[in-house]
Amino acid sequence: MIQVVSECTRKVSISFFREDDEHLIELPQSIRLLFNGTYLQSVWMQEERGRLRLLIGMGKVIDDEIQWKELAATGVKTCKEKQIEEVSMDIRPFMNNGKSETLYSVVEGAILGNYDPKTYRLSDKKPVELEFFGVPQQEIMTIKSVICEMEAVVKGIYFARNMVNMPGNKLRPIDFAEKIVNFVKETDIETTILKQDELRALGLTALLGVGESSAYPPCMAVLRYRGNPESSKVSGLIGKGVTCDTGGYCLKPGDSMLGIKGDMAGGAAVAGAIYALAKNKIKTNVTAIIPMCENRISPGSLLPGDVIESYAGKTIEIVNTDAEGRLILADAVSYAVRSEGVSEVLDIATLTGAVVNMLGFSIGGVVCDDEGFYQRFEEAFKSAGERYQRLPFYREHEKMIESSIADIRNLGEKFCGTITAGLFIRAFAEKKPWLHLDIAGTAWVDSPIFSFQSKGATGAGVTSIYRLCSKEER
Ligand code: BES
Ligand code: ZN
Ligand code: ZN
Repeated sequence: MIQVVSECTRKVSISFFREDDEHLIELPQSIRLLFNGTYLQSVWMQEERGRLRLLIGMGKVIDDEIQWKELAATGVKTCKEKQIEEVSMDIRPFMNNGKSETLYSVVEGAILGNYDPKTYRLSDKKPVELEFFGVPQQEIMTIKSVICEMEAVVKGIYFARNMVNMPGNKLRPIDFAEKIVNFVKETDIETTILKQDELRALGLTALLGVGESSAYPPCMAVLRYRGNPESSKVSGLIGKGVTCDTGGYCLKPGDSMLGIKGDMAGGAAVAGAIYALAKNKIKTNVTAIIPMCENRISPGSLLPGDVIESYAGKTIEIVNTDAEGRLILADAVSYAVRSEGVSEVLDIATLTGAVVNMLGFSIGGVVCDDEGFYQRFEEAFKSAGERYQRLPFYREHEKMIESSIADIRNLGEKFCGTITAGLFIRAFAEKKPWLHLDIAGTAWVDSPIFSFQSKGATGAGVTSIYRLCSKEER
C-alpha cells in the first residue's frame, strides 16, 4: 500500500519539474547545468543530512495520459534498479492540473514501475516501498481512495502479466481456468468452468474442434459480476485463451514459436479487468467468457479443408489451422449472447500478425460496428493511457471470408488480415453492438517501450476495459 503524507518522511525522494518550472531556480547551479526539466531527464542530487533526491523532467506540456504513467514509473524504476528500499514521491505536480485522470495514471505508473516478471530463478529484486508526499491534510482521504482503486486495477494487470509470462508447460487450459477462479475468489464474482464434456453437451463445436488437437483438453471459464442489479444491461467481455499456439498442421516456423505461450493474453486481460471491477464494487454488470485450449498437432487436429460446425449453427470451412483464435472466439461470443444474454460484445485477442506489421508494439487494433460503443471505448483507452487505432471495414472485406462450401471460412485473402479476422468474429455476435481488440502487438514486448512495462507481458487491455466498464453507469 502506498502511504500518503503531507511532508516527506523518507531519505530518498523524487520530484518532478516542468521545463519552464519556476522552482528550477531553487536548484543548485551545478545541478542546473545538468538538468533543465526535459521530458524524462533524470538526475540524482545530494541533499543535506545524507538525503538523496531524484529529479525527473516533465517537459513542456503533457497531453497524453501515457506520459503521466511513464513519469511515475521512471521514478520508481530508477530507484528500484538502485535497490533503494523506500522512497517518497512529490505528487504536487500531478494534483494541480485539474484532471482527475492524471492521478490515476500516476498511481498506475508508480506501481507498475515496481513490477518484476516472475522468473524461475531463485532471487528477484525487491519492490520499493512507496510514499506520496505534498498532499494537503484535507485531501489525503481522496488520494488514498484513488490509490486503493488503482491498486485493484494494477493487481489485475499483474495477474494478466503473470499468466502471460507463464511457460506453456506450466499453464494448460485447465490450470489457466483454475488460476482465474482462484484469483477472483475474494470478490463477488460467480465462476463456472465448463469442461470438455459440458462443452460437448452444449455444442461448442468450434472450440472443441481446436481444443481436441491436444491431450490437454479445452475448457471455458464463465465469470459473472453483477454490480448493478437494477439494470438489465450486461457487458460481455470475451478473451482468447489459447495457452499454446503451434499453428496446428499449418505449423508456425520454429523462430516464430517463442511467443506462442502468450496467446491467452486477451483472456488474461478480461480476467484482470473483471477482478478490478468487482474489487472496486463498480456499479455495472459484466460477464467475462474465456475459451481456453491448445492448438497442436495430433490425430484429432483440424486439417485445412475440413468443415466444422459451431455453437451458433453456422458451418465453418477451415482454410488455415493457425487461424484458431477466431474459431474459439466465435463460439464464446455466440455463447455470451445466446446463453448469457449479454447486451454488447467486446472481444480481445492476440489474433493476427498483420496488426503487428501495421501498428507495431505500442498500438492495438480496433474493429467496431457501433459508433456509440466505439466512442465510449475511445474515451476509456485515452484516460487509461493506452493506444488503439480503429480500422475500417466494408462489404468487400466481408466477402473475403465467404466460403463456397460452408457458411463462412476462417481465412480471408492475402490482405487486411486484421479486419477479416475481426469480421469473422462479428459474424457470431448476433447483431449485438460489437467491439474487437487485436492486441497481438501490444500484449508482449521483448524490449520495453515504456518504463511502466518490463520485458515480456504488458497486461494490455486491462485498464482500458476497466475504464470502459466503470464509466458506464456513473
Ligand atoms: N496467435 C496468432 C497471432 C499472433 C501472431 C499473436 C504473432 C502474437 C504474435 C494467431 O493465432 C495466428 O496464428 N494468426 C495467423 C492468422 C493467419 C493464419 C490468417 C497470423 O496472423 O499469421
Ligand atoms: Zn494461430
Ligand atoms: Zn493464436
